[in-house]
Amino acid sequence: MAAKIIDGKAISAAVKEQVRAEIERDKIKAGLAVVIVGDDPASRVYVNNKKKACELCGIQSFEYALPAETEQNQLLELIDTLNADKNVNGILVQLPLPDHFDEKAVIERISPLKDVDAFHESNVGKIMIGNYAFLPCTPAGCMELIHSTGVEVAGKECVVIGRSNIVGKPMAMLLLHENGTVTVCHSKTKNLAEVCRRADILVAAVGRPNFVTADMVKDGAVVIDVGINRLENGKLCGDVKFDEVSEKAAYITPVPGGVGPMTIAMLMKNTLTAARIQNS
Ligand code: GUN
Repeated sequence: MAAKIIDGKAISAAVKEQVRAEIERDKIKAGLAVVIVGDDPASRVYVNNKKKACELCGIQSFEYALPAETEQNQLLELIDTLNADKNVNGILVQLPLPDHFDEKAVIERISPLKDVDAFHESNVGKIMIGNYAFLPCTPAGCMELIHSTGVEVAGKECVVIGRSNIVGKPMAMLLLHENGTVTVCHSKTKNLAEVCRRADILVAAVGRPNFVTADMVKDGAVVIDVGINRLENGKLCGDVKFDEVSEKAAYITPVPGGVGPMTIAMLMKNTLTAARIQNS
């Protein structure tokens, strides 16, 4: 039977509307600084989408577009300035940075209270123990998509493919917080297809087009595709071979229009949270 398609566009629109309505109702002044270094076209698209979402929600956005040759110290100084700026509640440095940057040092320089990506090690630690203000945007967005299906996570076999700090690891943690039985797979995993076939909830965050094929999916699974891969023909494609997997899964996210818009919606939510914390 064909899977139901999880409409990330509609769900993200609802989240953004909720943020907008709260900001209006409580007369909150919220600001997000978005820093982009260099001219990576994909990063430019993401940053533009983040700015658009801010506008929609009534969040002030401040863009800092720095040349690729910017030095580490100059970026750290900008972060110090933004940390001290009362109009800036959230700071997002678009990743990846050009190669000469020490990304970890840049992330650690952002005040944890303004770290709306939840990449700072103190926020990562809080997520680990389940005591957090901010959830990382992409995993939090995936959880919203899973909730939208009505499928309970508790007691389910959950398999996450990919162990990045941005997606795989925090995703596993959020599923665990909801009492899923979680397995994290990666490039050294043996019998990957077999492990994936156990999953009631399968999250693919590999970064390889069409990596997850139908033989890796259990009948009736919930399949969340975090991949955004650009093919040679310019088209976007996920980590999941949509045509065949959608014949087997019960629910599946499309690419584009699945996880992508959710990441931005959750960023708006985190910026509102940051503004509430800093204004209180
Ligand atoms: N690059 C790709 N995804 C993200 C994200 O969620 N946040 C930041 N800062 N950079 C990214």
